[in-house]
Amino acid sequence: MSKPVILTGLRANNDLHIGNYLGALLPMVDMAREKGGEYQVNLFIPDLHSFTTPIDHDKLQAGIMQNLRVFAAAGLPLDNPDVHIYRQSYVPAHSELTWILDCFTGLGEMSRMTQFKDKSGSLGDDRISLGLFNYPVLMAADILLYCAEYVPVGDDQSQHLEFTRDIAERLNSRFGDLFVLPKSVKEQHEFFNKDQGLRIKDLADPSKKMSKSDDTGKGVIFMTDSPDEVRKKIMSATTDSIGKVAHDYDKQAGVANLLDILQLFGGNPDDFIGQDQYGPLKTAVAEAVADFLAKFQADLAKVDDQAILTKLAASEEQMNLQANVTLLKVQKAVGLRA
Ligand code: ADP
Ligand code: TRP
Repeated sequence: MSKPVILTGLRANNDLHIGNYLGALLPMVDMAREKGGEYQVNLFIPDLHSFTTPIDHDKLQAGIMQNLRVFAAAGLPLDNPDVHIYRQSYVPAHSELTWILDCFTGLGEMSRMTQFKDKSGSLGDDRISLGLFNYPVLMAADILLYCAEYVPVGDDQSQHLEFTRDIAERLNSRFGDLFVLPKSVKEQHEFFNKDQGLRIKDLADPSKKMSKSDDTGKGVIFMTDSPDEVRKKIMSATTDSIGKVAHDYDKQAGVANLLDILQLFGGNPDDFIGQDQYGPLKTAVAEAVADFLAKFQADLAKVDDQAILTKLAASEEQMNLQANVTLLKVQKAVGLRA
């Protein structure tokens, strides 16, 4: 582990939407292209995290492969030896370190995690799994095993990153220097020099973010949607009764979202600001997104599955070696190994 490590994970639970693409996947791919070489870049699929909330297990394998194809189509440099893609469950050290960290983690600190509160809130007691509760500990293991310093995550994950620093410090002060601490959230933001707050809104309900957890899917544009589906969803996007195009998240959330999407897909919002009809803006957004997706889907169809499988096997072999070095250090420290 001679190069500093950048690490991040994207779950493969459902089909990816344009929010995931613009807010997570594309920044990850850009980062791998820019920083792979000077840094080791770990982009992994946290498959063990996938069923912390109920999923359709029959679809997990296909979902993982599809996400990796999307990464490849988005331009992830599979031939760069400093860029690694791997599945969490193929590196058993993640599970083993999680158990050890669990035994040094307080019930109270896990109960305070906002994501746990948010995600468990909608489930009945019997459907809240210990896995959901435990989620941040597994995430800490994901990071600490590889001595990762830079972890680009959205705001919803900042608390988990802070926990990772806390648990690492706790074990370091008790057992000596076992772990490298990831940088603080503030330093992460400075390092990635990006607006990590980008949030595409749901087209049908622009008061909430576009999310794969949306049951209807009406306000969500998936990367695999056909041009016709895209046009239909965008033309029926919720706007307002003000009747003048302006970029105002508070009063005209739907219109502001359409303007953002237009800009992100290469259009010019200024062409529409001040117009007193929403139709032309919607048509422009629909065309920009439909064009982009048609091209993207053509690239997706050309992705070589074998190249992905070969890269996975190579990365997973190497990651096991790296992760096991850290795991052994911890096992020795806590008395599990001589
Ligand atoms: P979802 O809400 O669809 O379940 P996740 O919470 O699994 O998505 O997020 C996966 C990644 O995609 C995260 O890095 C998150 O920041 C990003 N992301 C999710 N939804 C959006 C969105 N609407 N706009 C921008 N980025 C998003
Ligand atoms: N918790 C992250 C999410 O839901 C995914 C994730 C799991 C992750 N392990 C990680 C991200 C380690 C960064 C580092 O988006």
